[in-house]
Amino acid sequence: MSEQDNGKNDHNEPTRRDFLYLSTGMAAAVGAVGVAWPFIDQMNPDAATRAAGEPIEVNVSSLEPGGHVIVKWRGKPYFVRYLTDDEVVAADELTAGDMKDYAPVDTRLGGPTDEAKKWVVVSANCTHLGCVPQVVDSKPEGWACACHGSVFDTTGRILRGPAAVNLPKPPYVFANETTLVIGTDQA
Ligand code: FES
Repeated sequence: MSEQDNGKNDHNEPTRRDFLYLSTGMAAAVGAVGVAWPFIDQMNPDAATRAAGEPIEVNVSSLEPGGHVIVKWRGKPYFVRYLTDDEVVAADELTAGDMKDYAPVDTRLGGPTDEAKKWVVVSANCTHLGCVPQVVDSKPEGWACACHGSVFDTTGRILRGPAAVNLPKPPYVFANETTLVIGTDQA
């Protein structure tokens, strides 16, 4: 497992690898808003600046339904997952009795348009003790945490295990159909 997975590399200098972990083998691009990639290292931001956390752009054009990536924002990993229609239906069929921290599926999904609300952007740190859960392709289950057995649905809602609350969502917005911006909810 990478150093990022245990969340202990917050003070390392950021590198391209730090900002993007492909879990599907698909290409995706991430950069600070309005700033080309190479500038991130050139700027060599101090710890306070990194902690403040500029929004990041994620080019999701290469992700197809069922695809997922992990990106890093404010030194923490976040899941970006593009659900299939079947995964959306399966998540929608869950009821309050199926989970520990009920939230309507609509509150867990985002997208560039209402018709395309099939995207999940959530923290990749388990809400139990912070491990990074593994993606599972077993709708409605979407992630399983190997540390102590918490299982989350495909929208990051806790179904069972010791974690008590859902994977939190960062502020995010879709600037357009292919550009996800994490770190702001302002279009
Ligand atoms: S850290 Fe995930 S279940 Fe304990």
